[in-house]
Amino acid sequence: MRLAPLTDDLARQAAALLHEGFAARWPLAWPTLSTALGEVHEALSADRVAFAALDGDRLVGWISALPTDYGDQTWELHPLVVALTDRGRGVGRLLVETLLGDLRQRGVMTVMLGTDDEDRMTSVGGVDLYPDVLSRLATIEDRLGHPFAFYRHLGFEVVGVIPDANGPGRPDILMAIRLVPWPA
Ligand SMILES: CC(C)(COP(=O)(O)OP(=O)(O)OC[C@H]1O[C@@H](n2cnc3c(N)ncnc32)[C@H](O)[C@@H]1OP(=O)(O)O)[C@@H](O)C(=O)NCCC(=O)NCCS
Repeated sequence: MRLAPLTDDLARQAAALLHEGFAARWPLAWPTLSTALGEVHEALSADRVAFAALDGDRLVGWISALPTDYGDQTWELHPLVVALTDRGRGVGRLLVETLLGDLRQRGVMTVMLGTDDEDRMTSVGGVDLYPDVLSRLATIEDRLGHPFAFYRHLGFEVVGVIPDANGPGRPDILMAIRLVPWPA
């Protein structure tokens, strides 16, 4: 397997991965190939960073990040997907580590992301988080292999939650990682 920048010629494969990879748990994320292709084209724009994982000519995963309104020091990881047939082989880790390495070189301090719990995959899904949202968040647990646990395994921390972001009991879990040492 090799990693390379995501390029135009991979756009259709990238869109198919996104559409198929999110269909089971997040069917509204990219409900059609066309919406997924729109996301890929955004990831290919000049202000974005995007990497592809390739097995021969076959795209097995891809990742992208974009600058945020906070300024150059904070970027958002979005999106990340690994082909259903290739999960559990280290592709996701390689994509995340490659992206973070690239952003570190650019002087980025913080990478943030949001990961939705649409169907009770965690202890903060399917419940009313109010009042005292943060105490519920402090004891968040993975129930069904939610990606927040993958990111946490790779060094991201849960830094917040948007209760009901996608409807009642369907929150967005916010995570972040710092790429450079705290200033001395
Ligand atoms: C989440 C996803 C990207 C993980 O990719 P992957 O290639 O299967 O993950 P890897 O094989 O690289 O796993 C890397 C490490 O994370 C661990 N891991 C993987 N999924 C995990 C999970 N859900 N919870 C906890 N740990 C997890 C692995 O055990 C592995 O540990 P190790 O390197 O210490 O042995 C993949 O499952 C996916 O595409 N899911 C659908 C789309 C998605 O959820 N995207 C992110 C939404 S924000």
